[in-house]
Amino acid sequence: MPSTDAALWCVVPAAGRGTRFGGGMPKQYLPLVGRPLLLRTLERLAAHPCIAGLMIALTAGDPHWPGLASLHGKPVLTCTGGGERADSVLAGLHALDGKVENDNFVLVHDAARPCVRGDDIARLIDLGVAAGGALLATPLRDTLKRADAAGFSLATEPREARWRALTPQLFRRGELVAALESARAAGVAVTDEAMAMECAGFKPLLVEGAESNIKVTTPADMMLAEFLLGREG
Ligand code: CTP
Ligand code: MG
Repeated sequence: MPSTDAALWCVVPAAGRGTRFGGGMPKQYLPLVGRPLLLRTLERLAAHPCIAGLMIALTAGDPHWPGLASLHGKPVLTCTGGGERADSVLAGLHALDGKVENDNFVLVHDAARPCVRGDDIARLIDLGVAAGGALLATPLRDTLKRADAAGFSLATEPREARWRALTPQLFRRGELVAALESARAAGVAVTDEAMAMECAGFKPLLVEGAESNIKVTTPADMMLAEFLLGREG
């Protein structure tokens, strides 16, 4: 068990529309090995001994939400998300008022990442609490090209010291709220929590996690997630 004195709440942004995935039903409700993708993600989080409860940000009046109140004996609460992922995360953090102190750490995990591994969550918490904030990430392995407007390669970018940000990400609730609010006030569109924290002057620790922790963005990702989860049995 990580060296935290208490298990942590996890905010799960699940209020996206899945425009890149396409189709009528938001991707988080499509079946993944026989159960809605969102449920697969939530079950995995709730089953983790380091997680105390889940706060899910949903679209207003989400007709697909199954109305869960608990999972694996952990509370499952919901709130209304916002127009961008960062707005949904901020809504979830505010909705934890009275449940999580400002000084306590919280996790943020994309609903669209159903293959996250328990051992990665444990390591993120263990190293991240000591570092004051962290995110799961994987080092870049492909050669990176910079394109011009017509789609021709102008240059090859250095790959060293480049990482792909994953979730969960772990920060103190109060510091993350302040960072997301100042990014919003400055009109900076942050695409993850770590970016908001960087803009606020923090240096989150990159904790290497499994590359199988994919974000389901397109139908091809869904097939890959089916394969990965199916292989786990
Ligand atoms: N998300 C959210 N609120 C938003 C936008 C996104 O809670 N306003 C959530 C998504 O539900 C997803 C996670 O943030 O779990 C990562 O976002 P992404 O993969 O981009 O999902 P969508 O925004 O739904 O997809 P797209 O960008 O293709 O529309
Ligand atoms: Mg999106």
